[in-house]
Amino acid sequence: MHIPIARPVIGQEEISAVSEVLASGMLAQGERVAEFERKFADYCGTTYGVATNNGTAALHAALLAADIGYGDEVIVPAFSFIATASAVSMCGAKPIFTDVNDKTFTINPEQVAERITPKTKAVIGVHLFGQPFEVRAVQEICESHNLKLIEDAAQAHGALYHGEKVGGFGHFGCFSFYATKNMITGEGGMITTNEKANAERLRLITNHGQSEKYLHTRLGYNYRMTDIAAAIGIVQLKKLDKYNMRRRKNAEYYNSHLSVPGLILPHVADAMYHVYHQYVVRLTGDFPMKRQEFIEYLKTKGIGTAVHYPIPIQRQPLYAPVHEPDSCPVSTRLSENVLSLPVHPLLDGKELAYICDTINRVK
Ligand SMILES: Cc1ncc(COP(=O)(O)O)c(C=O)c1O
Repeated sequence: MHIPIARPVIGQEEISAVSEVLASGMLAQGERVAEFERKFADYCGTTYGVATNNGTAALHAALLAADIGYGDEVIVPAFSFIATASAVSMCGAKPIFTDVNDKTFTINPEQVAERITPKTKAVIGVHLFGQPFEVRAVQEICESHNLKLIEDAAQAHGALYHGEKVGGFGHFGCFSFYATKNMITGEGGMITTNEKANAERLRLITNHGQSEKYLHTRLGYNYRMTDIAAAIGIVQLKKLDKYNMRRRKNAEYYNSHLSVPGLILPHVADAMYHVYHQYVVRLTGDFPMKRQEFIEYLKTKGIGTAVHYPIPIQRQPLYAPVHEPDSCPVSTRLSENVLSLPVHPLLDGKELAYICDTINRVK
């Protein structure tokens, strides 16, 4: 048995869609991207969607459109993928790390409020592993301090907060379609927004600041998505709800079958529709094995796992020289004891039963 932690689901429909683009001769940005932007924005319930070539570019462009620049501070959770913070640094601004809730792993709103200074301009909340963060609490803080709210929804396509899709709660929602995400284009990203002015700025930023052919009105980047990627995205979007449902069913299976002392299963907060980009367990002191030993054990049984994330961002070599290492103790503890199990939509009943049986035998 070999069960990888992630498995991209690509079928004949995606292959045909890409072949059509290749045959059309339009390999760069064209009709397919415009169609994907409209469909993705509709799906999220937002007015605009602006496609990018990856999720990091989406975050960077959103921060620039929010006017984040030198000297500004942006509050970000310490427990996330590096891009949540590095996109802030790319603007010349400073990420200010805040801790997360130890059960849901998402940004702790109380600490966001504590970290606000006169230099704070924005907050990035991450819908981590597919579970929305406490949107309302963070929105209220942003509104009362006149801060921009950016949703990092790279791992949460289709996740719901109080029944509404993520991506439309902040000034900007940023998505990734990287090859292991809940929907994929290989590499790719999207920014959702409800304001026309934001969408227009994003179009300039992602295309060389070009307002007319060879007329450049601001500093911009080449962050364009190709029609090849968009063609895959259009097909994947149709299947997203089905894939997310399978991920949720797989998670439910684990929830009702896994049982080992010291193994803490994911906690889903009220009113959250979790789409399980990752199924992340925690190993406490009562668990019979150390994490590395457990990883090795599962590997010998053919079960792939991953640690998301082994180092909290404030302790990354990139940030450690100028950030307090102990400022986010929950994130630090989580990085020492979390482990992601396979939850992707291609897992079958036999594989799930095998994984649970293998884990439950741990002594
Ligand atoms: C939380 C989070 N933010 C941002 C990104 C960046 O997306 P990309 O890899 O498409 O640049 C990722 C992707 O892994 C992510 O997981």
